[in-house]
Formats: sequence, structure tokens, C-alpha cells
Amino acid sequence: MVMARTRSILFIGDIFGKSGRRVVTSRLADMIKKRAITAVVANCENVAGGIGVTPPLARDLLALGVNVLTSGNHIWRYKEIYRFLEEEKRLLRPVNYPPGAPGHGVIVVELEMGFRLAVINLQGRVFMDPVDCPFRAADQCLSKLTLGRDAHAILVDFHAEATSEKVAMGIHLDGRVSAVLGTHTHVPTADARILPKGSGFMTDVGMTGSYDSVIGMEISSVMPRFLRGLPTRFEPEDAEGSLAAVIVEVDEMTGRCLNLTPVLEGGVWGKKRPGMG
Ligand SMILES: [Fe+2]
Ligand SMILES: [Fe+2]
Repeated sequence: MVMARTRSILFIGDIFGKSGRRVVTSRLADMIKKRAITAVVANCENVAGGIGVTPPLARDLLALGVNVLTSGNHIWRYKEIYRFLEEEKRLLRPVNYPPGAPGHGVIVVELEMGFRLAVINLQGRVFMDPVDCPFRAADQCLSKLTLGRDAHAILVDFHAEATSEKVAMGIHLDGRVSAVLGTHTHVPTADARILPKGSGFMTDVGMTGSYDSVIGMEISSVMPRFLRGLPTRFEPEDAEGSLAAVIVEVDEMTGRCLNLTPVLEGGVWGKKRPGMG
């Protein structure tokens, strides 16, 4: 019997502002070493002050050991990123923007010992600005990308708001990719699992940033909107960040997911508070 050779891929949820960058900077190298991580994929749509990403900040993350950066609806915030998306292929924007949008949404990278990892970035359409159909876009990508033949592993970052759309995408892609991982809501869900045909799935990986905030933004800048309907300007919270990620263990022969382990550490999740186990 041939033993399955496993590879561990770390997927980091939306890195938010300075607090997100700090926790990634302080913990990533150690995590790669301790958990024998082969590849790192991170969503960077909130890296620059909570909205968008700039070329220097994207470069910083790549230099820290991130192999592929994914993004979402906030990718277009800084104009200099348009050109950078064409130059730096390791930074993805959702693939299902209409034709002609700068950049691209899928990549195959070759890592240590010939390990080929494909990453597909998709964006949802429910409660979000209109984009092309993410289901058809995924099918189109996968018509040219077969798990086990073209890549040892295929990860999908589905950047979407509605849990229903995300679960539906997991079902739609089950067996054709290694994992479908949700981003965008900034709140991790407790449903990490392996679907019947072998794809890992988690509705939302959560935000890497300060949880002493309203999904990344300073509490005092958000509350007047909810309490009094005032159009306040949101400010990013700078308190100690938590790292929200998931480790996807794949069988290198088949590309199927063998284990999916959510990671939530540092910041509020590193402290004992009443009500926490
Ligand atoms: Fe986000
Ligand atoms: Fe988003």
C-alpha cells in the first residue's frame, strides 16, 4: 500500500490594516515551521488601512512567505494597484469581473519539490455589487485545470457575503478542487468540514486583524451609524490582532482534502475572558 503524501497549505483570511499586518509578521514564520506548511495563500483586500491594498504592502506580504495573494471587492481602492495586478501575477483579483478588468483571477504556482498549487479567486453576487456568474466562471477555470493532473492542489477563495451562495459553491465544486474557502464577512464560521466528494469547505475563514472592533473598524467610528443613523467615517482599529486561517491538508496524489484545521490565535482569542472556554 502506498501511503498518502500530505501537504499542508495555510490559507489566511482577510488581513485587515496594521493590526492584521502585525500579527501576520509576528506569527507567520513560526507557523510555517511548526506546522510544516508547504504553501501560504492570504486574502489581502483590507491590508491598506482596512480597504484595499497598495503595491508595497502586497510586496511585503510576498516577502514574508505568502505564495499567492487573493482579494475581493476592495481590490480597486488604490489606482496604482491596476498596473500592479498586471505585473505581479501572484496577486489575484476575483476572476469573474467582466472582460477587460485589470489583472487575473487564477494562477498555478510551482513550489518546493515540484508541488503545483492552483488558486482561483471568485466573488459572490448576493448582497454585493454585480459581477459575472461565479459558478460559470469557476467551471470555465476548471475546464482547463484538472485536480491531480494540472495541479497537486486547487484552492478556491470565494469572496462572498451570503452563506447560502458560499455553501452552494462548495457543493458545486466538491470533488473538483481541494478546498473552497470563504472570505469577506470577517467573521469565522464553525463549519469547517470535508464535503462528500473530498473537497474541504469553510463558509468564512474570518478576519486577520483586531476583533476589538466592528469587523475591523474602530467601534466608536461605527456605532453612531447603527445607533443614530449618522454617516460617520470609518477608521481602522489598531488594537492587537488575531490571526484567522485554516490549514488545508491535501493528499498530493489526488488533491483531495484529508484534514481542515481552523486556526484562530492571538489578540482577543489569546486572552481568557468570561464566557470563553
Ligand atoms: Fe474583507
Ligand atoms: Fe470584501
